[in-house]
Amino acid sequence: MKIMRVYFISFLLLGVLVQLCNGGITSGYLRAADLPDDMPLDSDVFTVPSGPNTPQQVHVTQGNYEGNGVIISWVTPVKPGSNTVRYWKENGKPKSQAEATINTYKFFNYTSGYIHHCIIDDLEFDMKYYYEIGSGKWRRRFWFFTPPKPGPDVPYTFGLIGDLGQTYDSNRTLSHYEMNPGKGQAVLFVGDLSYADRYPFHDNNRWDTWGRFVERNAAYQPWIWTAGNHEIDYVPDIGEIEPFKPYMNRYLTPYKASGSISPLWYSIKRASAYIIVMSCYSSYGIYTPQYKWLEKEFQRVNRTETPWLIVLVHSPFYHSYVHHYMEGETLRVLYEPWFVKYKVDVVFAGHVHAYERSERVSNIAYNLVNGLCEPVPDESAPVYITIGDGGNSEGLLTDMIEPQPSYSAFREPSFGHGLLEIKNRTHAYFSWNRNQDGYSIEADSMLLLNRFWQNTKKRLLDAV
Ligand SMILES: [Fe+2]
Repeated sequence: MKIMRVYFISFLLLGVLVQLCNGGITSGYLRAADLPDDMPLDSDVFTVPSGPNTPQQVHVTQGNYEGNGVIISWVTPVKPGSNTVRYWKENGKPKSQAEATINTYKFFNYTSGYIHHCIIDDLEFDMKYYYEIGSGKWRRRFWFFTPPKPGPDVPYTFGLIGDLGQTYDSNRTLSHYEMNPGKGQAVLFVGDLSYADRYPFHDNNRWDTWGRFVERNAAYQPWIWTAGNHEIDYVPDIGEIEPFKPYMNRYLTPYKASGSISPLWYSIKRASAYIIVMSCYSSYGIYTPQYKWLEKEFQRVNRTETPWLIVLVHSPFYHSYVHHYMEGETLRVLYEPWFVKYKVDVVFAGHVHAYERSERVSNIAYNLVNGLCEPVPDESAPVYITIGDGGNSEGLLTDMIEPQPSYSAFREPSFGHGLLEIKNRTHAYFSWNRNQDGYSIEADSMLLLNRFWQNTKKRLLDAV
């Protein structure tokens, strides 16, 4: 009888343990409860460059589909200034020139400076280029590297930053990214840039300060833009009814090159990666332009040329924090079957101010009557990484769904950034670096096996 009782109690305890260990790891790190403060306007990171009308807020992004083009953007505060970009290869001559377009916009009682955008196509792959903007004494010089030509085994390293804002924590995140020994070569930015919309009348001066803040990195390597909810800037109360006006005036994307009709959704090739950027704040339902574009887009990805298929979208499909829980559900229901069918490797999202990495799961079997509404392990599914932890003034989300769901592999509400190091067609390494650690300490990491090439022998045989 005694033995039976011991067995029974052990059985009960085991049951409780299974319940508690349902999901992955929830970090036990305890954070300060204070909200991060925006850096004051006289902070050195916002310094206006010397000179009467000197270019500021300089940033580059990819300028074409293949990766050998850039869009160089900057603002002159007083008057249009020179619209010429002079550029040249390292150790190369002669210097070439390209002309920028110039635009301004108004937002309630704010008038922007003169926003310059210069598209330069047909650069050499895998090359360091210098460029100069402005004129005379106040000319400014920067540089960037073009990526290697798209190819299956081209190593390349992307940084991952989301929901950055302009607080002291934002500055720590950017510094950690810059100091990371992994050396990111381009930033995949998953939306919510300046948080200017948190100021009275969406004070667009805070778009300018943000542009000056990130210039120290974004002028030297391309940031690949995704639109978040803080880019919408729709404020009918003050007559501002054109969504995304500040964002779309300031941050261009090469959308036409991928057949998109909107700067908010597009795709690019970069080295061995094919990157699809989605807009969850534009129409995305069936029959919409974004849906139709995506339908074709997935079909034209050539995994033999660009093995790594990456999706950027602001609102996560899978996360287990209380705030924003299931906001991405309608997107997931529509698009997850394609992610699985086309073997997307990894989906990066922001919005949730914390970090989380999912297991490879899918939840596509459910059809209203079969009751199969639980995510299940799926080797064709992507890993979903939520990295909306850039450091903005809204603070971290600490309330989590308990117990940790089985789809959640690791979660921690800390500020930080990610690094995706693509090694070859089969292997990539993702790491998460949180701000409270040293520059070279990873708080979470994962070796990614490419979904298309993971069974290399079979793929190669099929290709013969
Ligand atoms: Fe957001």
